[in-house]
Formats: sequence, C-alpha cells, structure tokens
Amino acid sequence: MLPHVFTYLKENQLSSTFPHALFSPGRINIIGEHTDYTGGLVMPAAIDKGIEFYARPIEGTAMRMHAVDLNETYKLPLPIRKEKTGVLWVDYLAGIIHEFQLLGHEIPALEVIFGGNVPRGSGMSSSAALEGGMAFLLNEVVGAGISQPQLAVLCRRSSNNYIGVPTGIMDQFASLNGSADGPIRLNCKSLEFTPVLAHTPGYSWLLVNSMVTHELGSSEYPVRVRECAEALAAIRKVHPDVPCLSLATKDQLNSVAGQLNETTFRRADYVISENARVHAMETALTRSDTTAAGILLNATHAGLRDDFAVSCAEVDFLQQEAVTRFPETVMGARIMGGGFGGCTINLVQTLGIPALKKHLFSAYFNVHGQRPEFYEVNIGPGTRAI
Ligand code: GLA
Repeated sequence: MLPHVFTYLKENQLSSTFPHALFSPGRINIIGEHTDYTGGLVMPAAIDKGIEFYARPIEGTAMRMHAVDLNETYKLPLPIRKEKTGVLWVDYLAGIIHEFQLLGHEIPALEVIFGGNVPRGSGMSSSAALEGGMAFLLNEVVGAGISQPQLAVLCRRSSNNYIGVPTGIMDQFASLNGSADGPIRLNCKSLEFTPVLAHTPGYSWLLVNSMVTHELGSSEYPVRVRECAEALAAIRKVHPDVPCLSLATKDQLNSVAGQLNETTFRRADYVISENARVHAMETALTRSDTTAAGILLNATHAGLRDDFAVSCAEVDFLQQEAVTRFPETVMGARIMGGGFGGCTINLVQTLGIPALKKHLFSAYFNVHGQRPEFYEVNIGPGTRAI
C-alpha cells in the first residue's frame, strides 16, 4: 500500500482491509504516437507507477469517493445522470459508472478511496489509470465478466462520450492490459496485442518532464483527429478499400495530394510513416539494436514536431540537448503522448543517467526557467487486484 494512502486510512480510522483493492498503472509509449485513433499500431507499456483503489459497499444511494492526493471527498448520487459534475476526477469515475449503467447494470453505493504516485500532467495517463481502475472495480462489484481488453473499449467510450475528448484507445488499453514481459504491440483496429520481448540490457527508459502543460493540447488534439479523418476520406474517394489512415500507403496518399491542403497532407504523411516505425521498433528492440531504436525515436520526434505539429519549444529543447550533448548515452529521444508539453522519453545507457540528468537540469533551467523532473520507470503488468 502506498504510504500516503495508508496514512489517510489510519488517520480516518478506516480498516486497511477492503473487500476490493486494486492497482491501476500509468503508461508510457515507446512509439506509435497518434496512430491509435487512425486505426494503426502503438507500442505502449504499463508502468510501476499508478493508482491504488480501495472500495467497500456502504448504505444509501450515493457513491462516497475520496481522492487522497487532492484530499477531496465527493458524494455522487446514483444512478449517474448524463450531465457532468464539472469536477474532473469525479467525472472520470462518473463516466465509467454511466457506461456500466448503459449496459444495464445497477451500481450499488460504494465507498471508493484512491491515491497514487503518477505525477499529474506528466503525460503518463493518470486519467486512463483512473478510468481503468474504476472499470476494473465495477466489473468485479457487479460481476459483469467483461474482459480487460473490452474494459478498455468501455473506458474509451466514456472518454469520448461522457468526458467529451476524442481520444484513441491506447492509454486505457495499455493501463488495463500491459505486460511485465515488455511493452505491448497493439493493433488499435483489431485490438490484437502481444508483448514485445525487448532485450536491451544496460539501457533504460528515462522520462524527462518539461513541466509544461499547454492549454493548446485540449483544443488542438481534436483538430488533429479531424485532419486525419479528412485525409482518410480523400484517400477513400479514390481507394475505397483503405481500412484506416494508418494502413494507407504513401502511394495512395500521393495520389490524392492535389485534393488535400499541405497541412492535411503532412499530418497523413506523418501517420503513415509512424505506423511503419512501430514495426521497425519491434525488430530493433527484439534484436537488441539500440542504435536503430534511437534513430526511430528521433525520427518520430521530428515528425511530431515538423509535420504533425504537436511539440513545443520546451520539449524540443530537452530532446535536442539530450541527443546532441550526450550521443554516447542517449540513443534517441522524442516527445511522448498527445503533445504540447509533458515528457520526453529517452532510451539511455543506464550508467550515463546521473550525468545526463545533471546537465539537462541546469541547461533547461537556464534557458526555460523551469526545473524538469526525471522518472526512471519500470514496465509492469496491467490493472490487477492487490
Ligand atoms: C493521448 C490520447 C491517446 C493517443 C495519444 C497520442 O495520450 O489519449 O489516445 O492518441 O495522445 O498517441
């Protein structure tokens, strides 16, 4: 049990044994960015940081939910209505309850206490961990028997329909279905997934948090989703059998170049290239080819910066400093997640991490006036009872 959650339970004279206890992890993404809602491949991993949930049945007709990290309690009357409460963490949980209601389940009143160690706003998907944890809990409580891949589908529906953001399925899927054996290669169309048996002894995945959360993210993400849909529609007019943008070929894209404006063309070009990089990364990691893996990471960063346009000056700086100043240590680096801030993910020689951190800390502070945070994350299994 996380120490601060334990302290909360103790201070409130709550037993530390609950009938329902689970861990819902955050996620990283090795490669395959903005390829989930375009029907392609992604390579995320569940990590060893996440959110613990403790729950028990209570009397009455309302959920009593407590967010230990925020020290906030909320009483949510049941059944949930379609209208949001306006409190973001409550809405993430309410959306999941709402989805179970839509499936015909009657949700009993519960006390739900949760707390975690995923740094918020770091791009490690604490929101997906919240959704997945609640879905896992309700699945257990009502005995719905929904598989963990299908719980991810349910969580995505909640994000799209209840929260109202048009995300793909990567974050929720990785959190619920990650593997301790390695990152998973997930086909976001068929939902087939398999662990990638990466063999990179002596290397680590280091996240460097720019501490930037651009407001732009919330408005530009849907714009990218729309641009990708436009590109696909144009391709399908000429090639009706193309199943999704990620599976279009460069030739097919080029054949409709005249129908697309330059921006939309570049978005689509990035997506098609990125999908191919997921395959290449799998080969590189399983063959212990960290040089090839690093080149792929850098190529993804260039694509996200120049063609997909979801990076920002602060993150570009951290990526450039890492790869140009520490070429021996840093095999490659890129912006991770939806974009517009958050973390870079770096494939680094473990022994070189202290010197790299020292340099990035002072260089970033000098130029951007912010103190970056560093996380050495370990890959672990998906959501599970504890
Ligand atoms: C966010 C979304 C995901 C995915 C990534 C970009 O994390 O939630 O569905 O689209 O951005 O790869």
